[in-house]
Amino acid sequence: MSDHGAELQRDGVSLGLVPTMGCLHEGHLSLIGLLDGRCDMKAVSIFVNPIQFGEGEDIDRYPRDEARDMELLREHGCELLFSPAAEEMFPQGFQTRLEVQELSKPLCGMYRPDHFRGVATVVLKLFNLTRCCIAAFGLKDYQQARVIERMVDDLNLSVELVFGETVREPDGLAMSTRNCYLEPAERETASLLPKALEWARRHAINGETDCNRIIEGMSAILGSKPGIRIQYLEAVDPVTLQPCREVGDSVQILIGAFVGRTRLIDNIRIGPGSGTKPIQGIDV
Ligand code: PAF
Repeated sequence: MSDHGAELQRDGVSLGLVPTMGCLHEGHLSLIGLLDGRCDMKAVSIFVNPIQFGEGEDIDRYPRDEARDMELLREHGCELLFSPAAEEMFPQGFQTRLEVQELSKPLCGMYRPDHFRGVATVVLKLFNLTRCCIAAFGLKDYQQARVIERMVDDLNLSVELVFGETVREPDGLAMSTRNCYLEPAERETASLLPKALEWARRHAINGETDCNRIIEGMSAILGSKPGIRIQYLEAVDPVTLQPCREVGDSVQILIGAFVGRTRLIDNIRIGPGSGTKPIQGIDV
C-alpha cells in the first residue's frame, strides 16, 4: 500500500481513508459516504491493532469477517482495501509509541492506560502508508476523535479530518462491532445507555444547568435494571475533556460501561448550543 499510496500521490490522485478494525457495520459505511466528493479515491483500512488492546482485553475474540467486509466495501463504492498483516505494521524491533498526553488520560484512558498510545501510533502509520489527504472517524469514539485531531494539529500533518455522527440501532444503541458479544437479555439492558443520554439531552434543553444533577439522573436510569457496571459517566468540556460543573453552552457526556463482559462506550453533546438532534426510538 505504501508504494501504491505514493504512486497515487505522484499522479495527483487524492485518497480518502476510513481506518477500521473490520467487521464493518452501518457506522463504518456511513464514514465512506462522508468522503464522497472530498477525494478522488476512497480506501478503507482493516487492521485489528494489537497495540491498542490491553492485557485481558478481547483481541483474540475480536470479530473478523473479511469476506463480508469486502462485499460491503464493493457495494459502498470503496475502491481500495488496505489490510496489512501485524508483522508488516509492527515488524520485530518496532518500539515507537506516540502519545497525546493530556487528552489520553481521563475517561477511557483511566481504564485503558496504553489504549490511545496504540491508537495514535497506528493511525499515524496508516496515514503515512496510505498517504491519504483526508480521513474519516466516527464520533461514537469521541475521545479517540479528539486525540487524533490533536495529533494531526500538533504534528502539522497534512490530513484533513472529517467526523461522522454516531449511527444507532432502532432502539438507540450505538452501532459497534462489540454489540455482537451481547446476549439477548444484555442487549436489552444495553439500550439503557442511549436512554440515559437522551434523557440528559432533554433535561439540558429544558433548562437543567447542573452537570451533577444530570449525571445523577442518568445513573438512576442506568441502575434501573441490574446488569450495567459503569466505569465512567462524566460531563466534560467537548474540547479539553476536563470535567464541567455547569452545562453552559454545551458539554459532552461520555459513558464507558460493562454490560455483562462487554464493554460499551457512548456519548452525546448536550446544552442549548449543542444542536444535538434527539436520539430516535427512545421514550423517556
Ligand atoms: O476506531 C477504530 O476502529 C480504531 O481505534 C482505529 C481508529 C481503526 C485504530 O486502530
